[in-house]
Amino acid sequence: MLVKDWNQILDNIPLDESNEALVSKKFVEPLIEALGFNQQEQIPQFNTGNGTVDFAVWKNNNGDISSNFKTNPYLLIEVKARATGAGSKINLSEGTPHYINTRKQINKYLLDSQCSTSEWGIITNSIHIQLFRRHGKIVLPATSSLLIKKDNINNIVAHIKYLIDHPPKTLTICVYNNKGGVGKTTTTANLAATLTQQGKRVLVIDFDPQQGDLTKSLGLQVGKTSLYDCLSDRNLNIHDTIQPFSIKFKSGKSLTFDVIPADPKLKNFTQEELAVRIEKGSARLKDALKVFVYEYDYIFIDCPTNWMFFSQSSLYACDVVLIPTKHNNLASLDNAATVIKEFIPKVKAVRQDGGPIAMPIFFNGENSTPSQIKIANQEIKSIIEREIKASNFNLLPYFWPNYTKDDTNTRVFSLPSYAIVAGAAFSRAPAAFKDITAAKYYLSLAKEYFIL
Ligand SMILES: Nc1ncnc2c1ncn2[C@@H]1O[C@H](COP(=O)(O)OP(=O)(O)OP(=O)(O)O)[C@@H](O)[C@H]1O
Ligand SMILES: [Mg+2]
Repeated sequence: MLVKDWNQILDNIPLDESNEALVSKKFVEPLIEALGFNQQEQIPQFNTGNGTVDFAVWKNNNGDISSNFKTNPYLLIEVKARATGAGSKINLSEGTPHYINTRKQINKYLLDSQCSTSEWGIITNSIHIQLFRRHGKIVLPATSSLLIKKDNINNIVAHIKYLIDHPPKTLTICVYNNKGGVGKTTTTANLAATLTQQGKRVLVIDFDPQQGDLTKSLGLQVGKTSLYDCLSDRNLNIHDTIQPFSIKFKSGKSLTFDVIPADPKLKNFTQEELAVRIEKGSARLKDALKVFVYEYDYIFIDCPTNWMFFSQSSLYACDVVLIPTKHNNLASLDNAATVIKEFIPKVKAVRQDGGPIAMPIFFNGENSTPSQIKIANQEIKSIIEREIKASNFNLLPYFWPNYTKDDTNTRVFSLPSYAIVAGAAFSRAPAAFKDITAAKYYLSLAKEYFIL
């Protein structure tokens, strides 16, 4: 039965004393059914490898429980009580301690050994509910944490059902720092090359029309239909903007990724003019890219430094923000902090779909000695302390993702400085396609963040 009387269901969940078992029985079981799964497609208390999630759900498991039920459920659900035994409420609204812990839990389960192809996770206590999507190594919010009410529960369930019935293929990555010259364009081109080498379908958007560095470095030009044309006229087909970048290797093998080149037309307008000419302003790029989410494994957006139309549109359109910094450049660390604590939350508040999220920073293109790293870490420590003091914003997971109370690990991923990377722009191909060492560096970057 798909159609549920949610009013009645919600009425039957006691407000203050509902423990986890009660929430599971009265809310989560009907929810699983409403999402289109039958009894044969679910089991409670599933061992994810290194933990136990409350429900694991498989797709199209018509009756065969024994063989398929051991690994890789499609959807995991972590259930919380409405209140603890003592009666204090469990609050799963974003930012609360319960929420942060529960989110960590679903992250861990979705990436655990028995769930390596699991795609979706839900956390709920029947007051709040949030859907997460897994893409490679990343767990992303697919909705914000939604407050359930009688008048929106039908819409919430229908929305979650729609998303899990139409899983997007893509992860959209904006490579951004509010500081110039940190390697945004270089990282974009080389990660695109590396992921293509890994067999992924990749699209790159050069949304830095002033410089168009990415487009130039690949030797491409804008085609007959340009990005500005598509952003300002919805009737045009955005597929027509694509220019493939292909490389043929000595072995005879060739590789291709797709590029939407920088559009010089976009630099003819001021911010105000763009706002008038492009309906929906900085929300329009996301709209325009929607058709690609079922086509590509990865979409990269390279944007300029300044916090303006292009970078705002890019953050609005992406799932994650990858932030290159330099260990010896305090401004690049400070600006990374600004992106994480200011720009991303601003965009997130407007989008209301859970995104975008920041990836932990990495050091790009500067070789370092232990003493230099020590100095960088002192800077990072003072930035973290400063932001906690100023606005109670915890930057720790974004600067030192492996740091815990028991293990004060301050490792920041570093991509070495490598002359061939810098020279690649003149050879009209990403270094990762041309040079084994560069390929190795960028594969380790891709593995650090994106691929298993
Ligand atoms: N790992 C690296 N090794 C050596 N050189 C690098 C590396 N990464 C980037 N560079 C060089 O650093 C310079 C700046 O890089 P890039 O243009 O990618 O930065 P950007 O952040 O896109 O700059 P802008 O703010 O101007 O858009 C370029 O000359 C590039 O070749
Ligand atoms: Mg650039």
